[in-house]
Amino acid sequence: MTTMDRLVGAGVDRIDGPAKVRGTAPYAYEQDPGEPIAHLAVVQSTVNRGRISRLDPSRAEALPGVLAVLTPANAPRLGKGLASDLPVLQSLDVHYQGQVVAAVVAETSEIAKAAVGAIAVGYDAEPPDVALSPDREDLYAPEKLMAGFATDSIIGDVDGALAAAVVSIDATYETPTQHHNPIEMHTSMARWDGDSLTLWDADQGPHNIVNDLVTGFGLDAGQVRVISPYVGGAFGSKAFTHPNQMLAAMAARVVGRTVVYELTRQQMFSLVGHRTPTIQRLRLGADPEGRLTAISHEVVEHTARIAEFAEQTATPTRVLYAAPHRRTTHRLARLDVPPPTIMRAPGETPGMFALESAMDELAVVLGLDPVELRIRNEPERDPERDLPWSTRNLVECLRTGAERFGWAGRDLRPGVRTEGRWLVGTGVASATYPTRRRKAQCRISVDGAGRYVVEIDGSDIGTGAWTALTQIAADALGTDMASVELRIGDSRLPFAGGAGGSTGLASWGTAIVFTARDLRKQLDEQHGGQPPAGGLSVDGELPGESPHAKTHSMHAYGAHFVEVRVDRDSGEVRVPRATSVYDAGTIVNAKTARSQLLGGFSMGVSMALHEGSVTDERYGHYVNHDLAEYHVATNADIGEIDISWLDVDDQLANPIGLKGIGEIGITGAAAAVANAYWHATRLRIRDLPITPDKYF
Ligand code: MOS
Repeated sequence: MTTMDRLVGAGVDRIDGPAKVRGTAPYAYEQDPGEPIAHLAVVQSTVNRGRISRLDPSRAEALPGVLAVLTPANAPRLGKGLASDLPVLQSLDVHYQGQVVAAVVAETSEIAKAAVGAIAVGYDAEPPDVALSPDREDLYAPEKLMAGFATDSIIGDVDGALAAAVVSIDATYETPTQHHNPIEMHTSMARWDGDSLTLWDADQGPHNIVNDLVTGFGLDAGQVRVISPYVGGAFGSKAFTHPNQMLAAMAARVVGRTVVYELTRQQMFSLVGHRTPTIQRLRLGADPEGRLTAISHEVVEHTARIAEFAEQTATPTRVLYAAPHRRTTHRLARLDVPPPTIMRAPGETPGMFALESAMDELAVVLGLDPVELRIRNEPERDPERDLPWSTRNLVECLRTGAERFGWAGRDLRPGVRTEGRWLVGTGVASATYPTRRRKAQCRISVDGAGRYVVEIDGSDIGTGAWTALTQIAADALGTDMASVELRIGDSRLPFAGGAGGSTGLASWGTAIVFTARDLRKQLDEQHGGQPPAGGLSVDGELPGESPHAKTHSMHAYGAHFVEVRVDRDSGEVRVPRATSVYDAGTIVNAKTARSQLLGGFSMGVSMALHEGSVTDERYGHYVNHDLAEYHVATNADIGEIDISWLDVDDQLANPIGLKGIGEIGITGAAAAVANAYWHATRLRIRDLPITPDKYF
């Protein structure tokens, strides 16, 4: 942006904040459709693979207040072409534990849930196949990874270079299945008016959901409206349609009333996707000065039998460090598990745990400061695509972070600092995440008094996007925020992709900037710079990726410095302080950006120390499927976190110069914690989470 801009960069309060804290912002569950709402509850499969052999709804149907029981025998037929687990109740086959096998619609949620317990289901079941291992003979190479990344990459003679390396590391790292736990569960309220469907929904982008409803119910796009201006948190599970939206719409059609379905917390562990577990073998070869000669990153992960989801785990290894010989591979096992999905920095998050742990191990072998090791391997160009960087300031993030954290003079030796019963250590890791943008459309109208309405189907999932977009719009229109009303979260608004891949603000913001330029040009050329009495409306479109994306490699960067304390009596791990410095281009809202980056880092601490879904390989279920046993970091787990960013912008990425901040904060964070844990204890934990028992 130019020096004329006054709002981009400012720490403006959230425009939706007052309504949210007063409880007047209506979320999906809180809509008033003007008629009594019916409630939905589901029966879920207790086996992972097999076929329903018996399903008797009669006792449930007889309960007072039950409006309908939907089963594969009587549920409306959905259109062909639905992917993954969206053809709900269309077959007697069971593909994963937790699959919906029946649904009850009742006057209250209590009646619906009670009726669920009155439905007896029997199965012809086969034993569950849920154990991931690099030794499985059925591992396969997917054709492509998520987001279109190539499955493998190979440059040079990796094995030869590893064999010849003076110093090397060969280690295997494991990350567990993780589940989505936003505060607001997935919620859908469906209402039919004739053949038109309205869905109030908790999602990361209404347009994403419309397409599946169109396919499933055989409608035209104009017959479906998805509305979701307020969303209580989302990390990827709300990006795509899941069985809940299909069920709410089916049930509303059957009972002829508005139906709401809010998942229970336990159902979040089977119906809306998860992060795949990973097993990653990292091999690094280096010369005595610590210059990498070879990098090999081989990933094994799982997907579901009914849907391929190929997480791009080793992709950060393709860009982060220089090395002449390099290889990344991804292999999948198809298991009897629910379909995995994206979760905050899918790929980069588990992949960076492995890469940045291995870099720390290499620094130890070399007796080299781990910050210095990273700086020595800074590539001048993208090492695999052989392209210049749009902007890359990883080294400055490392140097600035080291300074702010007080890294200088750190004793390289592990296990030598104690304070009382606490073992104390510090660790570092890099962060990186791709910078992209996607197609988006926008409409801007101005009335005779100079009041603007900006319409775009963007999504604020709790990030502050609504506010940041209003700042961008006000600057682009040359006005103040009070003169701009921004409308988002409704599929009737001009098309925009969902909040995901850290592309939201770049895509929607750029569409707004382009449309605002058009509007101002028309005002200048045709109306003497003043809005005409009757107003003016302009439609604009951002075609998609930056034209420079083919010629430049675009990424955000960061560096995390972490102090870890480990109680040598109990094994308890604390993170009392951390420093993160980011190169994320232009920061649009200093206040909400800090919260985003802090949230990402906190989720990384949560990954390092707490989160992990335990699979019972005998019975095939996730044992700890609620917040009592699946631990998510709370305020008490997060110490003093110093968040800052470099004063940079990336004009090749988009005219705002931003790189996206939704995901960069979590990448590398878990490795920084694990590296500090090693420094505190001498114990290298290569399988997350680092629970207290691993100390003993
Ligand atoms: Mo994010 S996993 O792209 O919602």
